[in-house]
Amino acid sequence: MKIIFATHNQNKVEELKQIVPSKYSLLSLNDIGCIKEIKETGSTLEENAQIKADYVRFKYGLDCFSDDSGLEIDALGGAPGVYSARYAGDQKNNDANIEKIWKELKGIKNPRAIFRSVIYVHLNQKKICFQGKVEGNIIYEKLGLEGFGYDPIFIPKGYKKTFAELGNTTKNKISHRALAIIQLVKLLERT
Ligand code: IMP
Repeated sequence: MKIIFATHNQNKVEELKQIVPSKYSLLSLNDIGCIKEIKETGSTLEENAQIKADYVRFKYGLDCFSDDSGLEIDALGGAPGVYSARYAGDQKNNDANIEKIWKELKGIKNPRAIFRSVIYVHLNQKKICFQGKVEGNIIYEKLGLEGFGYDPIFIPKGYKKTFAELGNTTKNKISHRALAIIQLVKLLERT
């Protein structure tokens, strides 16, 4: 069965391929000939996920799903949240984003954070939204080489290593995106 993932990001497609059973073949926007960048103009993860999925549903008439994720830090009132990718500016620079967070945290001890992922699905005329969360804390150094974004500064609760140190095999079992995608797979299995 083919499922369209409303993203141009091939890294995300590859990450989800490791989570979704291989009987489902994941197609990206490039695979359906959609090259237009869909602007994420929402002010929440839910709104952005819906904007991307609705675009594909209404422009191409196809069932699909999309995701939007972010890091929410308690001491920063939930920032960077929906602005996680471009927290330090539109150049979407990971190092600059991390420096900005450290500066704003002003050395607060063990700041609590969650990674949250929202999945928005169009399936058989229905719209469904799922979310996955992983709780943890931020550290003031970068540890580990795997993953992307804020992975080197996030230690998930119950672990002693960052996502970047734990690596993709472990991360893909416990991450916010994995927890959201597992719900999508259960929905597909029931359909
Ligand atoms: P996206 O909506 O999944 O593209 O995520 C937006 C931004 O949130 C990314 O550019 C990262 O900065 C951050 N982010 C989301 N998920 C993760 C993750 O699993 N690890 C590290 N950073 C993440």
